[in-house]
Amino acid sequence: MARTALVTGGSRGIGAAISKALKAAGYSVAATYAGNDEAAATFTEETGIKTYKWNVGDYEESKAGIARVEQDLGPIDVVVANAGITRDAPFHRMTPEQWQQVIDTNLTGVFNTVHPVWPGMRERGFGRVIVISSINGQKGQFGQVNYAATKAGDLGIVKSLAQEGAAKGITANAICPGYIATEMVMAVPEKVRDSIIAQIPTGRLGEPEEIARCVVFLAADDAGFVNGSTITANGGQFFV
Ligand code: CAA
Repeated sequence: MARTALVTGGSRGIGAAISKALKAAGYSVAATYAGNDEAAATFTEETGIKTYKWNVGDYEESKAGIARVEQDLGPIDVVVANAGITRDAPFHRMTPEQWQQVIDTNLTGVFNTVHPVWPGMRERGFGRVIVISSINGQKGQFGQVNYAATKAGDLGIVKSLAQEGAAKGITANAICPGYIATEMVMAVPEKVRDSIIAQIPTGRLGEPEEIARCVVFLAADDAGFVNGSTITANGGQFFV
């Protein structure tokens, strides 16, 4: 039987490419979204991938949503914690609300997404946890104290989960995309974006599909020895 994958923020941007690539690789896929009903409906129409609406920052909503997915598609074998937001501002102008919104979605959202599926993965002796972090969690970024903190935190989560899950057949890995051609990056002021592209040796933004193929690799049954790792996919912009 096909394995089941859950992709948060899976109907737009990098998440949409991940959902589609997993479906193409034979997974039964559920994609979550937070607010954009129209984009989600179009995505389902075009891809046949079921979408579910909940706020990853809310534990009870996540738990209830995951229960619905498991009822519809079966136990979740692969969880891709991809949902993320930016609220960029220089630190001296960053508000407590901008800090908290990003923490809730990008960091607590990972806890809320993985925690409800973890006991089932342990029981069944198989699981793949894949967290989409960021180059900016590795190197920091002007204007992203909040975002960089969450993306660095994601790396701590996977390195810890990798140790806790290993004996139960569960791996946990992170992917650190660089600047990818999505709405999130396009929202960066053009002048700033151009200066960022100038720092990428590949000379271009990445494509969402280039991140999706990393996910398909990590999700595979035969990727069991890759655990606690960070895949860097940033066009050579930054090395750890
Ligand atoms: N390093 C040093 N100084 C910088 C700087 C940098 N990287 N970026 C801006 N500054 C300086 C500017 O030169 C300017 O200085 P002066 O006042 O002396 O001229 C000052 O900071 C203000 O800059 P802005 O005019 O840009 O200020 P702003 O308030 O309009 O915007 C900002 C600030 C929101 C942080 C804006 O610079 C910005 O959006 N930066 C991009 C942040 C970024 O990379 N976000 C990534 C989003 S995509 C994503 O997050 C996905 C992923 O994982 C990669």
